[in-house]
Amino acid sequence: MAKPLKSPAKIGPAGRAGAKGARVDGLRSVDLGVTDLKSRARFYTDIWRLAPVVEHPGSVYLRGTGPYHHVLGLHARPRAELLRIDLTAPGKAEVNAIHASLKKAGLAELEKPGPINEPGGGYGFAFKDPEGRTMRVIAGDKRHADAGTRADRPLGLTHVVLNSPDVDAISAFYVDHLGFRIIDQTRAMTFLCCSEQHHVLAFARGTAPTLNHIAFEMPDIDNVMRGAGRLRESGFAIEWGVGRHGPGNNVFAYFVGPDEVVIEYTAEIARIGKSYKPRGPEDWTWPPGRMDQWGIAIGPTDRMKQAQQRIAFAPGIFHPAG
Ligand SMILES: [Fe+2]
Repeated sequence: MAKPLKSPAKIGPAGRAGAKGARVDGLRSVDLGVTDLKSRARFYTDIWRLAPVVEHPGSVYLRGTGPYHHVLGLHARPRAELLRIDLTAPGKAEVNAIHASLKKAGLAELEKPGPINEPGGGYGFAFKDPEGRTMRVIAGDKRHADAGTRADRPLGLTHVVLNSPDVDAISAFYVDHLGFRIIDQTRAMTFLCCSEQHHVLAFARGTAPTLNHIAFEMPDIDNVMRGAGRLRESGFAIEWGVGRHGPGNNVFAYFVGPDEVVIEYTAEIARIGKSYKPRGPEDWTWPPGRMDQWGIAIGPTDRMKQAQQRIAFAPGIFHPAG
């Protein structure tokens, strides 16, 4: 069992305060470039169980059963790539404070905050982080009034994990300029928290700033299992799982989806309070041969490990056509 760290200083910039008022409070959506829009949209609706909310020429926007306007944007592209990740901020003031902080940091690509003329609307701006990821911060975006849990359907995103050649430096950037705090660290990963949820973003040690995986929240463990069964019956093997993670305590089942994008069904991620004690790599260890709390998970497979390195961010700041 992991023990709390004696000193949070041991896990790097935990507790370091970002610029005043500069803080995000959630993860809304991911935009993916896909090679065959029709069949990818079919997979994410019929099999993965999101629902279409807006279709434009070359783009399909999908929602979960939660409040966010959409959680996944699919866009026709010659190759599979990560186009953008949208984080939410509580309001305009926080968006502007984050922008001011990023401007001070001297980012090479930083748009001005303003009204967003894309599905979901709101106010915000996009930027390239120091390792070339396109991120956007938004507030005042549309929310659905009919949010709730539905059997066998994802609520939305739980987290995105991104690979980085310098996990400590990029984590410090997100702490300093977007108001995240480091909530836990293992040898392989640093987990970033911006709400009562254990993490919405994590960086994994890697060789390039690629996508590790995207996790979708299921209502409960039973729905993770039912979803895993449906995926298997649809020809998508469980590449890692079903198991329960250490940091975040969430139940997981991983798949390699279309275009070799690694996707996860997850549930029961820890909600944390102020008394939560961050833990470090020496605390988060497993007995030999084990990589989760239960010890029954199959994988991770070599196929998944390869897929977790494949999807890169597109160059430039993404704007959908139409
Ligand atoms: Fe995950």
